[in-house]
Amino acid sequence: MDSIRIKGGKPLNGTIKISGAKNAALPLMVACLLTEETVTLSNLPHVADISTLINLLCQHGTNAHLNGESSKNGSSNGRAISLTASEITSTEAPYEIVRKMRAGALVLGPLLARMGEAKVSLPGGCAIGTRPMNLHLDALEAMGAKIEIDAGYMIAHAPNGLKGTDIRFDSVSVGATQNILMAACLANGVSVLDNAAREPEITDLVHLLQKMGARIEGEGTERLVVTGQKTLHGANHAVMPDRIETGTYAIAAAIAGGRIELTNTNADLINSVIEILEQSGTTIERTEDGLIASRDPNTPIEGVDVLTHPYPGYPTDMQAQIMALMCVSQGSAMITENIFENRFMHVPELLRLGANINVHGRSALVRGQAELIGAPVMATDLRASVSLVLAGLAAKGETVINRVYHLDRGYERLEEKLAACGADIIRTSGE
Ligand code: UD1
Repeated sequence: MDSIRIKGGKPLNGTIKISGAKNAALPLMVACLLTEETVTLSNLPHVADISTLINLLCQHGTNAHLNGESSKNGSSNGRAISLTASEITSTEAPYEIVRKMRAGALVLGPLLARMGEAKVSLPGGCAIGTRPMNLHLDALEAMGAKIEIDAGYMIAHAPNGLKGTDIRFDSVSVGATQNILMAACLANGVSVLDNAAREPEITDLVHLLQKMGARIEGEGTERLVVTGQKTLHGANHAVMPDRIETGTYAIAAAIAGGRIELTNTNADLINSVIEILEQSGTTIERTEDGLIASRDPNTPIEGVDVLTHPYPGYPTDMQAQIMALMCVSQGSAMITENIFENRFMHVPELLRLGANINVHGRSALVRGQAELIGAPVMATDLRASVSLVLAGLAAKGETVINRVYHLDRGYERLEEKLAACGADIIRTSGE
């Protein structure tokens, strides 16, 4: 298994091109199941979750074509995929694929809306919590589907199609909003989705669906009104920039010191993260196509309290990374996780690097200190893993991060991007 080795303590200077957003690309790809025509997506990130989803879509009968597109600096950004689901040959999403990636369960709504049936594995729990599907299922039942759970599968039928209706989500869910939004596009009549998630990845999905002929109003708000259509058509769309990757590299500049310019992105996507970084003593300069994050290595990092919330609040997917920064602050920080019940798996690993953190329920009290010391660590989740990379950039000596496949699920060429800014970081392949 590959590992990443970092010798910390080097300031970072350079430019990083941000990739397309994994969390936007996954639902955008699933939307191809809603039409017989071709959906083409550009700015697709090269990450493992995309390959997993291609496998799933192909096993439903989708034809997938990837067109590599090299850019000036040899980066692999800009890759495009064409997906054509002219015929759905199977409405089953097997456990072997969905267990690897929860976003696989997003095929439920589109398959049910188009084919009148779907059998999709329950994704099960994962390292960050139980992650149930009740909001997805309650909404589909309200739209007239009959659903039973059998042998770990959600088996759904709507032989006469789904009916548009008023749905109020009991709590905010990104996945449930995406699933039901797609289903509603092919339902009979009008669906009103209240308490919908407002994450930018949902707005990106709305934009693609509109290009495909869907009628959706209220984008970017907590009320989406969808007038179902008989069919949708093909479309071309560029995947939005990855706001979590943007925020992660901004924190890399903050934790290591130095100056990193982030391009091919949009600072407005991470306003809540920028606010915290500025309070911590990091300078953020907004540019035409991104931002520049800098901190003089001699300027101390201030402790700042952080609470995660649905968008536009501070993202849960940036919680582990900001905790790494707070570990080397000169103050204290209370970090509260409001979205997932078990998202502090990075804490014991940060403790191995010498951090001082106490977890009390949903909050972690971080007492900052001058120095972390490198050690072997591993993590069981994508964002937890990257927080260890960030901590490794600041730590004295060598940090070895094992189980790199978690990083590869969501970060494209992470070690190359950081090495190009002067980080002493390499990937070593294991057995
Ligand atoms: C998406 C993101 C993930 C991010 C999360 C929250 C993708 C592929 N993943 O995950 O990176 O951390 O949003 O921003 O885009 N819940 C229920 N019942 C449900 C569905 C969700 O109780 O039916 C709960 C979850 O357990 C969690 C909360 O709602 O506590 C938010 O989860 P949700 O927004 O659905 O996350 P995902 O869409 O799975």
